Amino acid sequence: MKKTIVIGSDHGGFTLKQALIKALTDWGHTVEDQGPDCTDSCDYPLFAARVVKRIKADDDALGVLICGTGQGMTMTANRLGVRAALCTNEFLARMAREHNDARILCLGERVTGQGLALAILKTFLETGFGGERHQRRIDLMDTVSE
Ligand code: RB5
Repeated sequence: MKKTIVIGSDHGGFTLKQALIKALTDWGHTVEDQGPDCTDSCDYPLFAARVVKRIKADDDALGVLICGTGQGMTMTANRLGVRAALCTNEFLARMAREHNDARILCLGERVTGQGLALAILKTFLETGFGGERHQRRIDLMDTVSE
């Protein structure tokens, strides 16, 4: 199914972002690039926030955030209230969608090569949420206290 994909990076994820945009476009998806538009040094929380804002506004859209490791993007997106999963293989991508209903895929350009990143992205986009017990657990994320 064709989707709207909102994508962003920092300088450390810029090259992979451009490669993923090309693949997503070739696959027929609508891509919203939230920047940056060059490899100048920049701050990943600013681009994570842009993507999160768009994902919150469109229930059907999915997001992709890329930095050097993927860690900063993951932390920022989750802190802003959107489930985001750092995935380094296809199994993690499938579980992040099926069990955790992750709405943003996070990748590390300095960690994951382009070929594997494309396979992870494809799996993330093609896997649906499992619902049922997983929905109960996701709901608990918003209500549980320590
Ligand atoms: C930038 O050097 C780097 O810290 C950033 O891309 C990311 O890895 C942070 O989590």
